[in-house]
Amino acid sequence: MNKKKILVTGCAGFIGSNLVDKLTNSKNNIVYGIDNLNNYYDHKLKKKRLKKLSKKKNFTLFKIDISSKKNILKNFSIIKYDYVFHLAAQAGVRYSINNPDTYLKSNLIGFYNILEAAKKINVKLFYFASSSSVYGDKKKFPISEKFNTDTPKSFYAATKKCNEIIAHSYSHLYKMKIIGLRFFTVYGPLGRPDMTPFSFLNKHYQGKHIDIFNKGNHERDFTYIDDVINFILILFEKNQKNMNSNYEIYNIGKGSPQKLLKYIGQIEKTSKINFKRNYIGPQSGDVKKTYSSIKKIYRITNYKPKINIQEGLKKFINWYKKYYKIK
Ligand SMILES: NC(=O)c1ccc[n+]([C@@H]2O[C@H](COP(=O)([O-])OP(=O)(O)OC[C@H]3O[C@@H](n4cnc5c(N)ncnc54)[C@H](O)[C@@H]3O)[C@@H](O)[C@H]2O)c1
Repeated sequence: MNKKKILVTGCAGFIGSNLVDKLTNSKNNIVYGIDNLNNYYDHKLKKKRLKKLSKKKNFTLFKIDISSKKNILKNFSIIKYDYVFHLAAQAGVRYSINNPDTYLKSNLIGFYNILEAAKKINVKLFYFASSSSVYGDKKKFPISEKFNTDTPKSFYAATKKCNEIIAHSYSHLYKMKIIGLRFFTVYGPLGRPDMTPFSFLNKHYQGKHIDIFNKGNHERDFTYIDDVINFILILFEKNQKNMNSNYEIYNIGKGSPQKLLKYIGQIEKTSKINFKRNYIGPQSGDVKKTYSSIKKIYRITNYKPKINIQEGLKKFINWYKKYYKIK
C-alpha cells in the first residue's frame, strides 16, 4: 500500500497538534507539519505539544512562515503532498480588532500561498479551517451552512470568509477538491490560553477578576477537541472514497449552546473556585450566540459529538491543575 503524505499547517497549534497526533497513529500516513511557532500566546504550550509529536517516527516538522511564498513553494517542490490540512492562521476575534496586519499576512497572503502551492502539485484533497464567526449575528438557530455569511462582524471573520470565496474559485477553476471546516469554539486540554475556560482560570490564579462581556448574555456552542478531531478523521476517510462535489463547507460544532453565566457557574463548581466577576458591555466583533447545526456533517460521518460540557470542563480542569501543579 502506498503511504499517504499528509501536510498539517499550524501543527504546533491546538487543533493542528491534536490532528497530527491522531494521523500519525496510522503507519500508512507520513505526516508533515508547518508552523512558524509565533508568540501569539505562551510559547511553552506549543513546545509541549511538539514534544509529544517529536516522538512519532512518521512526523516531520518544518519551521516556516506561510506568508513567505518562496519558502512555501520550495517546501512543496521537495515534498509532493497528497493531502493538505491548512489550519495555520492568526486566530482570535478580539485580537483582530487592534492587530489587523498579522491577519492580512497569515490568513490572506499565507492562505493564498498554501492554496497556490497545493494547486501546483495537484494535491488530492485540500482542507482548510474556517470559523463559525463567518455567520455574524443570527436570529434563527441552529445555524446551518446554508445561512448567509455576508456580514462578518470582525476582521478575523472577514479573512475566513475571504478564504472560503478564494477556495471556491480554485475548486471551480482548477477542479481542486476543497473542504472548508467552520469550527465552533473548540476547547480542551493544552488548548488556547486566549479562550475560555483557559483564560478564566489563568485570571483567577493570577488573582485577577474575569471580564464578562455583554454582561454574560452570550451563548457559545463549545465543542470538545476530541469530537472535532473525530469529525475530521471520519470525514477524511469518507472523502477519499467519494465526494458529492469539489467544494464543500461543514460546520464542526457540538450542536448545544451554553449560556455564558451558566457555563461560568459550571467551571466554578468543577474547579471549586469562585471568580471575581467584572460585568461589562459587549466587545466589538463578538457575536451574541453561536449554535451549530450538525445535520450536514452527521449525514456524511454518522458521528455525533460525545463529550458534553460537564465532562469536557472536568477533563480540561484536571489537565490545567496538573499542568500548573495546582493542588
Ligand atoms: N480553536 C477554535 O475554537 C477555532 C474556532 C474557529 C476557527 N479556528 C481556526 O482553526 C485553526 C486552528 O486554530 P487553533 O485554535 O489550533 O489556533 P492556534 O493559534 O493554537 O494554532 C494556529 C497555529 O498556526 C501557527 N501560525 C500562525 N500564523 C502562521 C504563519 N504565518 N506561518 C506559519 N504558522 C503560523 C501558529 O504558530 C499556531 O501554532 C485556525 O485557522 C483558527 O482560525 C479555531
